[in-house]
Amino acid sequence: MTSRLPGFYRLGVAERRRRLLQACRIEEGQFAAIDPGALALDIADGMIENVVGTYALPFSVAVNFCVDGIDSLVPMAIEEPSVVAAASNAARMARPGGFTTHASAPVMIGQIQVTHIVDVDRGAAALRAAEASLLDDARRLVPRLAERGGGPVGLEVRTLARAGEDGGVIVVHLLVDCRDAMGANLVNTLCEALAERVAQIAGGKAGLRILSNLTDGRTITVRCRVEDAALASDGTGAEVRAAVAAASRFAELDPYRAATHNKGIMNGVDAVLVATGQDWRAVEAGAHAYAARTGAYRPLAVWRETDGGLLGELVMPLAVGTVGGALHSHPAARLALELANIDHADRLAALAAASGLATNLAALRALATEGIQRGHMALHARGLARAAGATGELVDRVAAELAACGDVKPDRAREVLARLKESP
Ligand code: MEV
Repeated sequence: MTSRLPGFYRLGVAERRRRLLQACRIEEGQFAAIDPGALALDIADGMIENVVGTYALPFSVAVNFCVDGIDSLVPMAIEEPSVVAAASNAARMARPGGFTTHASAPVMIGQIQVTHIVDVDRGAAALRAAEASLLDDARRLVPRLAERGGGPVGLEVRTLARAGEDGGVIVVHLLVDCRDAMGANLVNTLCEALAERVAQIAGGKAGLRILSNLTDGRTITVRCRVEDAALASDGTGAEVRAAVAAASRFAELDPYRAATHNKGIMNGVDAVLVATGQDWRAVEAGAHAYAARTGAYRPLAVWRETDGGLLGELVMPLAVGTVGGALHSHPAARLALELANIDHADRLAALAAASGLATNLAALRALATEGIQRGHMALHARGLARAAGATGELVDRVAAELAACGDVKPDRAREVLARLKESP
């Protein structure tokens, strides 16, 4: 399949669905999963507590993505205008080489805290000596995960305090390869099961037992190259390239800018995570902790100039799953995976990360050139034109006039539409 669907953004929703039927291996009936009200109340009621309704978001697909040599439509659920357009435009700029990714093994960290240890050195040594036996215990608890090639793979012992209010404190990290599961339930279950024995070995009292969202053992790296000619069609590509690289350096120097830079990345990442039913709060927490891992808050993605182009690289922890979680219950999340042809967690992480690098590039390019508001306004103007009742080519004509006069308001949209209808 190709993810190049020229003019997709100009089509109406029904026509876009028809194009998807041609482009993907899905059937018409499956769109019911993203129709309004698709998440039935009784299903929602079983998902969380105190349910009184459901909450909808627009569901889109970003186009033009080629990730690791394979074209894919990228499902996105998000309330913010411009993000899907930005992702699609940047993916088109990066399209000749596409995005290439590398996923680490999907190793999650479970933490078992032990407090009130009288002799932390002795406790730590005893825990290290018991590593093989503790891992054996852990493996016996998750035989099916081991059959799928995953399971507990290591144990780390970290001394946090030698003395103090909680006495000597050690934390044991249980490292678990979770394969295609996000792994929170798995890891938490293992930590709870092992905690008493761990505390006994350390000579202390079992404290918290829970996974860490700083999943620095489960990272994804995504890279792309963008040629000058793709950055600007008017011959100013080299200047845009230099400006994007300078914007990257700004984020590398300043945590205030790095936070916004990373927000632009998470625009793309989170939209994919929401569409595919992932725990995006877990990824957010991990991403920002990872960004600050050196003690200074840094950008997750950087851009460098190369011969006639830009090289971008994003590295971040991305704990996602294609089994379990909301995928059991949420019909739209299952459809999102099918639309994007995602059948394992690494592919989902690759698409989410590529989407993040794309929205980052689009934001830096816009900020480094015309500023962000013009693109926002153009989209806002199209939305107002539609809301005023414009259809077909009138949408673009009304929007263009609103943007040109700088008066992007509903009244003005209705006025312009009426005039264009009277004298086309
Ligand atoms: C807005 O949602 C995201 C940006 O602020 C990102 C950035 O500044 O890089 C445009």
